Amino acid sequence: MYNMALIERCLSDYGALPVATQVSPNDQMQNQWYLEVGRSAVEVILAGLMSSYVPQVNRVLDLPCGHGRVLRHLVRMFPTAEFHACDLDADGVRYCAEQFGAVPVVSRPELSEVDFGTKYDLIWVGSLFTHVAEPQCRSWLAHLAKFLTARGIVVATMHGRWSQSVHQRMPYIGEDRWQEIVNGYHARGYGYADYVSSESVDHVPGNYGISLARPSAILSMLEHLEGIRVFSYSERAWADHQDVVVYGKPAVDEAW
Ligand SMILES: C[S@@+](CC[C@H](N)C(=O)[O-])C[C@H]1O[C@@H](n2cnc3c(N)ncnc32)[C@H](O)[C@@H]1O
Repeated sequence: MYNMALIERCLSDYGALPVATQVSPNDQMQNQWYLEVGRSAVEVILAGLMSSYVPQVNRVLDLPCGHGRVLRHLVRMFPTAEFHACDLDADGVRYCAEQFGAVPVVSRPELSEVDFGTKYDLIWVGSLFTHVAEPQCRSWLAHLAKFLTARGIVVATMHGRWSQSVHQRMPYIGEDRWQEIVNGYHARGYGYADYVSSESVDHVPGNYGISLARPSAILSMLEHLEGIRVFSYSERAWADHQDVVVYGKPAVDEAW
């Protein structure tokens, strides 16, 4: 059973102070929906907490933090928690440490080489799996599970079925590579193609692009994780765009 008092406290804490509106000039995520997208993360995280058993949120990992598009909301939602802000973008990590008091963690291109050295009650993964190939998605989902507290959860976003419609209106990537992605999606449930260099970002070397995954493909990756339960999968839940999966611990309630 989820902790109702925690949900009530999150809501009242989130409403108590305004969210910071100053945005780094280096923030690559700036657009007209910047604040709404962050607020929507609050909603899906609350839903994640209500689908799971997290008793308290004492330590949070925001991965990838970027320049704090979501973190600025999370520090309001959990004002007493310790935050770790992790990204390959060292400028973004530094910004999150300076502006939001987060512990800085500069990542590695192969995320499974990162030892966070601690455990989290909540790991928020906003738009990372949406940019990586199937083997990375599978192994990174598993890697993050190792850093959960006994009742901790990962709330992660994916490009799901709806992203096919989004691409028609606002293409993620060139049409030739989109076809490659769609082919993989139809064949295996998970499609991926690298950006070409003009679409990519300097601080992310190597495999980085766009993915498209069926809910069943993601759930099948999670099904194989020992000690992990899937709490929910919601299509189009983040900002009416990306799917959101919530997984974590315990796999089996202690009472059984
Ligand atoms: C679409 S942005 C999302 C940023 C942030 N979550 C937000 O919503 O504003 C994707 C981010 O993933 C980061 N990234 C890519 N590969 C990474 C890795 N191996 N470890 C950590 N961050 C990575 C990029 O640097 C970039 O900041």
